[in-house]
Amino acid sequence: MKVVFLICLYLKLNLVYCESNCKNFKTCSGCIGYNLDKCVWCSAKEHDDRRCQTLEYAEKNNDWCKENYYNPPEISNFNVVQNDTFNVGLNGAKVVQFTPQILQIKARPNALIPFKMNYKPAKDYPFRYILCHGLLCHNEEAYENTNSAS
Ligand SMILES: *[C@@H]1O[C@H](CO)[C@@H](O)[C@H](O)[C@H]1NC(C)=O
Repeated sequence: MKVVFLICLYLKLNLVYCESNCKNFKTCSGCIGYNLDKCVWCSAKEHDDRRCQTLEYAEKNNDWCKENYYNPPEISNFNVVQNDTFNVGLNGAKVVQFTPQILQIKARPNALIPFKMNYKPAKDYPFRYILCHGLLCHNEEAYENTNSAS
């Protein structure tokens, strides 16, 4: 039921924003960071029109921007910063029960970023994961304590 409700809400939001807000953005970061539409930015020196427009508009109006408009890809950077192999921590070795450990991703808001995470519980180790988005981090406690072997 919850899922159906969320889908309805999403559709409603999209309808409300059918009239795109792209053209109202005055800064490049606001423009390309807008998450309800795909906006592109014109940084041409000579430009009298609005600098932010929808991609659709830019494609239909070739004379809107005198230079190439800025349209960054959905995912412009995907780095595996740390991916140590699993380690159950015998003889004082560092326990590794989750891979990869650190990813650095640069993407447009709402971009779908597929990647695999693997979890292999070490005995008697609580498991926490921290999700960071920009400067915000959430500390999630997935399992109080895992004694299960797998
Ligand atoms: C991390 O390393 C494992 C092997 O230890 C590999 O299977 C996995 O694909 C790697 N993950 C990423 C995101 O590169």
